[in-house]
Amino acid sequence: MSKYAVLGNPISQSKSPLIHSLFAAQTDQAMSYSAICLEENEFEHFVRDFFAEGGAGLNVTVPFKGNAFALAASCSPRAELAQAVNTLFLDDSGNICGDNTDGVGLMTDLKLNNKVTLSGQRVLILGAGGAVRGIMAALVHEQVADITIVNRTVSKAELLAGEMQSMAPIEAMSYEMLQEAASKGRCYDLIINGTSSSLQGEMLSLDAKLIAPDCCCYDLMYSTTDTAFVKWAKQQGASLSIDGLGMLVEQAAEAFALWRGVRPNTAAVIDQLREQS
Ligand code: ATR
Repeated sequence: MSKYAVLGNPISQSKSPLIHSLFAAQTDQAMSYSAICLEENEFEHFVRDFFAEGGAGLNVTVPFKGNAFALAASCSPRAELAQAVNTLFLDDSGNICGDNTDGVGLMTDLKLNNKVTLSGQRVLILGAGGAVRGIMAALVHEQVADITIVNRTVSKAELLAGEMQSMAPIEAMSYEMLQEAASKGRCYDLIINGTSSSLQGEMLSLDAKLIAPDCCCYDLMYSTTDTAFVKWAKQQGASLSIDGLGMLVEQAAEAFALWRGVRPNTAAVIDQLREQS
């Protein structure tokens, strides 16, 4: 039986073992998938031993996506751009390879599951940490009209915008600058929350005027009840207010397809997870 696992810290909350066991049952794959909590100094040793002992693939979550990127002998272009890896596997020569399926997971959830059009849209991204890095590589290929990245620490937003500048019209701002822009009529068709504030139950102070008619508000985080951002978006009357559960399932499906060569039915799994929460 092929062995897979997700590595993180903390990890007990992870839905990945459940998602992959549902995919495996659905597609008749003989595989095990466990969740493993590691300390930072154990990560590299664990990964190398796992593959040396016949392990087939790993997912990597907070806080190890950067460590996985550094460890992989080669990475996909999208992982290179994100400088973060969420999926590890061996190539035919036995080298450890890294990929990042977060961005494509978000695009699939937006476009296929929620019928959101991205082309020509004005996009606002809140945050400039690891979660945002993971999605940028996919977003810059979507022919959106423009992207604004806002972060509490503006220098991080500026750095990210600078790295992606050749691929899309993109600018960095502080929350104060965003407020000023909103008061002058600036608004967005897609607002993505990539900050961790929402999970701590805090809501960023955002002007409702930022929400354009037909705006989709998407929180990369998810929770059993509405996140603070989703709650805010619903209260402001956003056309669509979505949390990151669909993205979680879609990024898992992408990793599963990479490992197993079969694509699971994600809609059934998303429904099942929603019912359970
Ligand atoms: P992750 O991997 O989940 O993205 P991270 O790399 O630590 O975690 O990034 C967290 C993001 O949430 C950052 O953009 C952070 O802003 P800073 O770079 O200024 O720290 C943002 N964030 C966290 N708490 C926040 C808050 N209360 N208000 C605004 N932004 C917040």
